[in-house]
Amino acid sequence: MMKIDIVSVFPEYFDVLNLSLFGKAQAKGLVEVRAHNLRDWTHDVHHSVDDTPVGGGAGMVMKPAVWAECLDDLLGLAPTVVDTTDTTDMAAADDTADDAAPAASGAIADDDGTDINDAPADSADRPVLIFPNPSAPLFTQHDATELSHAGHLLFGCGRYEGYDARIPQYYRAQGVDVREYSIGDYVLNGGEVAVSVMLEAITRLLPGFMGNADSIVEESYTGENALLEHRQYTKPAEWRGLKVPDILLSGDHGKVDRFRRDEAIARTNEIRPDLIGRLDCKALDKADRKT
Ligand code: ADE
Repeated sequence: MMKIDIVSVFPEYFDVLNLSLFGKAQAKGLVEVRAHNLRDWTHDVHHSVDDTPVGGGAGMVMKPAVWAECLDDLLGLAPTVVDTTDTTDMAAADDTADDAAPAASGAIADDDGTDINDAPADSADRPVLIFPNPSAPLFTQHDATELSHAGHLLFGCGRYEGYDARIPQYYRAQGVDVREYSIGDYVLNGGEVAVSVMLEAITRLLPGFMGNADSIVEESYTGENALLEHRQYTKPAEWRGLKVPDILLSGDHGKVDRFRRDEAIARTNEIRPDLIGRLDCKALDKADRKT
C-alpha cells in the first residue's frame, strides 16, 4: 500500500482521485490518499499562507512558517534551528533535487530533553517530500519509476509566485528526501495540476494498478532504451479511405516487431532528437542502425 499525502490550499481539487482507475486503486487498497488544507495550519483570522517577496517583485510567496507547521506534523518532526555554520551540509542541502543531504549537525534539545535531530523510530517510512516547481529539474519516467517504489509520498502544492526557498532547504537539512520537479517548460497557476500529473505517472506503475501490466512495458519513455512509441491502429483495416499498414495485418510477428521498431526510431529522430542523443548505443541492433 502506497500512502500519499497532498497539501494544498485547494484540497478539493483532488476529489477527482476518487474516480476512475485511481478510485479503484484506493478501493483495492493499493493506495491511500489524503488531501490536506494548508490553511488548517494557520493561526490568523485571515488564514494567510503568503506574503510579499523579500527584495521586491510581483506576486506573493508562500510563507515558510505555515508550511513548516504542516510538514512537521505530517513528517512527525519537531521544529529545530538549522546550523548554518556547517557549510558543507548546507551546500549539499542546497544542491540538486536528487540527493538528500545528511541530517544537519548542531542539534538542539526539545522540551523533553531528547535530541530532536535524532531520526524518529519510523524514519525508514518517512515520506519522500515532493514540491512541483517550474524552475526545477524536469520530472521524467525515470523519476516516476523510482518514486513508484517509495512507500509514502508527501506532495506540497505551491501557489502564487512559489514558496520560500528555505522550505525545501530546511527539510533537506533534516535528512528528509526532498524533491523539486517541473512537469514541463510552461508556467501553471499552481502545483495542483503538476501533482496530479506526477501522481498519475507514479501510481499507474504500481503492481495491480493497471488492468494490463503489458501496456506499461512497451510504452514510450520506458526502459533504458527509451524511444517514442510506434503508432497504434485498431480495426477496421480501412477507414474513410485510410489503411492500416499492410505489415501489421501480415501475422508475421518478426516483421511486425521490426516495422514498429523502425517507426519508433524514425519518429523519435524526427520529433524528439534529444531522446536519440541520449540513447544507449549498445541497445541498438544492426537493423536499428540502418534506420
Ligand atoms: N507550478 C507552476 N508551473 C509548474 C510546472 N511547469 N511544473 C511544476 N510545477 C509548476
